[in-house]
Amino acid sequence: METFELVRRFGDFTAVDGVNLRVGRGQFFGFLGPNGAGKSTTIKMLTGLLAPTAGRVRVLGRDLAAESLEVKRRIGVVPEDLNLFERLTGAEMLTFTGRMYGLTREETRERGRELLALMELDGEPKKLVVEYSHGMKKKLSLACALIHRPEILFLDEPFEGVDALASRTLKDLLLKLTARGITVFLTSHVLEIVERLCTHIAIITAGRLVVEGALGELRRGIAVGEGDGAGGGDPVSLEDYFIRVIGGARPAGEDVLPWLV
Ligand SMILES: Nc1ncnc2c1ncn2[C@@H]1O[C@H](COP(=O)(O)OP(=O)(O)O)[C@@H](O)[C@H]1O
Ligand SMILES: [Mg+2]
Repeated sequence: METFELVRRFGDFTAVDGVNLRVGRGQFFGFLGPNGAGKSTTIKMLTGLLAPTAGRVRVLGRDLAAESLEVKRRIGVVPEDLNLFERLTGAEMLTFTGRMYGLTREETRERGRELLALMELDGEPKKLVVEYSHGMKKKLSLACALIHRPEILFLDEPFEGVDALASRTLKDLLLKLTARGITVFLTSHVLEIVERLCTHIAIITAGRLVVEGALGELRRGIAVGEGDGAGGGDPVSLEDYFIRVIGGARPAGEDVLPWLV
């Protein structure tokens, strides 16, 4: 998957400003950045949910604007707003999605059942999506994104609002998928998760990419750079690295909210 000078403006405001991304097959790619950096706007453009103001997106070797239907058939998406139908049960939502992707009735039923069990959403089969908690909705949206066995999975903040147990299941599953050559592209501001999972990262701030590359290399690069010439510095946590490249670390001064602390 690649983007070429991707731009999105909302009126006068430029949310995504000339982003060039390159994501290889089977990579576990973490797209990071502070709140409002442009992550969700970018992922919407990568998945055909939002048209770019300028620039191009290629997914699975195809131009997204020209062949969006073919691309959409082969990708899975958990968007920011989850795109679920509130008046359906989880099983109905999966049936709808499976049939929409052209799976047979039999495949849809079987895969839907397995996905609901894996996500532990099969306990209350009559429950409607509108009655789901946020974490449950997220898991259902992920199940829908997987039912047609996509070649690339796009996840916008997949761990947000998901409990520890489900997070573990989700992490294990995503690692298995990438081991089978499925590409995972996720946005997150939870750096510990990204640090443990991702092979590659990019960091965006104020609509611009500031870093892109293999996580190990980035970390070694900065560790060496930090050294005093006597063999390089210590490995740097992704959080330290993130704060450094974003440059957003506020001085831990005394005058932070003096009326509060
Ligand atoms: N539909 C929209 N109209 C106007 N501004 C928007 C719209 N969507 C996003 N933005 C703005 O674009 C910026 C990036 O938003 P977003 O991509 O959601 O950030 P992130 O996902 O990194 O937190 C924010 O300043 C946000 O307010
Ligand atoms: Mg977002």
